[in-house]
Amino acid sequence: MASHFVYSSLAITLLSLLFSLVSSGLLLEDGYTVTTVIDGHQLEINPHSVIDRPGSSDLIVLDSSRSAFYTLSFPLSEESVVKRLAGDGVQGYSDGEPGSARFDKPKSFAVDMKGNIYVADKSNHVIRKITNLGVTTIAGGGSKKEGRADGPAQNASFSNDFELTFVPHICALLISDHGNQLIRQINLKPEDCSKSSQSGSALGAVSVWVLVSVLSCLVSLVIGFVARPYIIRHTGRLDPPLQHDMEALPNQSGETSTDLLLRHQKRNC
Ligand SMILES: *[C@@H]1O[C@H](CO)[C@@H](O)[C@H](O)[C@H]1NC(C)=O
Repeated sequence: MASHFVYSSLAITLLSLLFSLVSSGLLLEDGYTVTTVIDGHQLEINPHSVIDRPGSSDLIVLDSSRSAFYTLSFPLSEESVVKRLAGDGVQGYSDGEPGSARFDKPKSFAVDMKGNIYVADKSNHVIRKITNLGVTTIAGGGSKKEGRADGPAQNASFSNDFELTFVPHICALLISDHGNQLIRQINLKPEDCSKSSQSGSALGAVSVWVLVSVLSCLVSLVIGFVARPYIIRHTGRLDPPLQHDMEALPNQSGETSTDLLLRHQKRNC
């Protein structure tokens, strides 16, 4: 009986030893490569956090030590164009013109689908927004003090340690309020979650142009189909001016001129 006990406890010990070996073991997966694409020493920026900007060919870089945001153009290389996006390089709190706005060494930001930037300006206990128009405070601006109040965003308060992320499918910012041990939510405006870029007007113009050409193409096809039996039944041929144009086209397959007209229209679409 005693030996049975010894064997089973030995087996358990061996099993748990094996399990801990497997679970603490490294699994080194090959197939990845590290390259340096940007050296901050040369560009005089120290990247704390980087996020792709939707609808543009820019990367947004937060330099926390300088309290400033920069854009870097793709492809990322030593030739990338670096531009200051917001923050005058001095730590503080000031909204307005992006170039003269001030942040207090933020460490976290998020970007919505329009390219608007939301900054967890934790030392100021506020959430800021950067757009082409300038920098604003969207939450916490009422008190600017540490707290955990919900409600209208300007009246809300945050701890001095929080980060934020944009969650597209609920069109909201989620705030991981570490200091308060809370996850908090700010719903964004629907237009900030639609897939148009900041060059939305240019895109709009392009889609209108495409729509107009597709429509005119359809209309000419429909007119061609509607007119075809009429022309054939009543005249057997096209009107003289059109006929004259069509005669210039080769017609060896015995197609009627209207067939050629239709084919011509289809080709133009
Ligand atoms: C929010 O703050 C403003 C200004 O301090 C105040 O007038 C308003 O009553 C507050 N709203 C709520 C819901 O606390």
